[in-house]
Amino acid sequence: MKLLIRPNAADVARLAARLLAAQIERRADSVLGLATGRTMELIYDELVRLHENAGLDFSGCRSFNLDEYIGLPGTDPNSYRSTMNERLFGRVNFNLANTNVPDGMASNHGAEAQRYEACIRVAGGIDLQLLGLGETGHIGFNEPLSSFASRTRDVTLAPGSRLQNAVLFGGEAGRVPVRAITMGIATILDAKRILLIATGSKKASILAKTVEGPVTAMISGTALHHHRDVLVLADEDAAAGLTQRDYYDWVARHDPQISGLRD
Ligand code: GLP
Repeated sequence: MKLLIRPNAADVARLAARLLAAQIERRADSVLGLATGRTMELIYDELVRLHENAGLDFSGCRSFNLDEYIGLPGTDPNSYRSTMNERLFGRVNFNLANTNVPDGMASNHGAEAQRYEACIRVAGGIDLQLLGLGETGHIGFNEPLSSFASRTRDVTLAPGSRLQNAVLFGGEAGRVPVRAITMGIATILDAKRILLIATGSKKASILAKTVEGPVTAMISGTALHHHRDVLVLADEDAAAGLTQRDYYDWVARHDPQISGLRD
C-alpha cells in the first residue's frame, strides 16, 4: 500500500482524476471500477473538466460500479445508477450501454449478483478501481464481518452506514434502504490497480485504522493490504489520525511511482 497526502479535497480530486485520465489515455477501452458517495463528487467534476477542456475521451471505456441499493429503480434520484448518470456519465461522452451498475430491482438478487460477476469477467476484469471509505470502514457496501473471500452479493447495511448516507435521503436514516447489492471484497481485490480516496476529518479515525491495521474483518478496508497495487490518496484532514506521518512523507518523496505525483 502506498499513501499520498495532499493539502485538501480539491487537490486530492485533481490528482485522482489525473490518474484515471492517465489510465484512459493508456488504454482507450479501459475497464473502470467506479464508486459513489460525496467523496467522488469532486473527482467526477474534475473528470468532466478534463473531458471539456482537454478532450479526455470516455467513448471506448467500460465501467462497473461497486454497489446499488435494493429496492430503488435506476430512475430514483437516490439510486446509484441515477447518481452516476447525473454526476458523470451524462456529462461526458461515456456510452451508457458500456456502464454497469447492479440492478437493485432484480427479483432474484443472487442471480443478479452472479450476472454482475460474470460481466466483469467477460470484460476482462477491472483495470483501475476507485474506492471511497465508509465510516464503518466499508469498501463498496462490504460492512464489518464481510468475508475477505466474498463476491458480488446482496447484503444488509450497517446502521452506521444508513446514518452516514441519511443526508441524501432528506436526513432520515429510516428512508435509507436496508439492503444493497455490492461487489464482494474478493471481487474488488481482483482489480489490477486500486485507488482509495479519503477526504475530510470524519474519515480520520477509520483511515488510520485502515492504513495502519491490524487487518481485521471488522474493517473491510483493511483487506486492501492483500492487494499488490493500492494507492491511498488522502487530504490533510483525513490523514490527521495517522501515526507514522514522517515515514509516509519520506516514502512519497523517494518512491519513483508516487514522488512525481506530489505537484
Ligand atoms: C457509500 C458507498 C461507498 C462509499 C461511501 C463513502 O456508502 N456505498 O462505496 O465509499 O458511500 O461515502 P462518502 O464519500 O459520502 O463519505
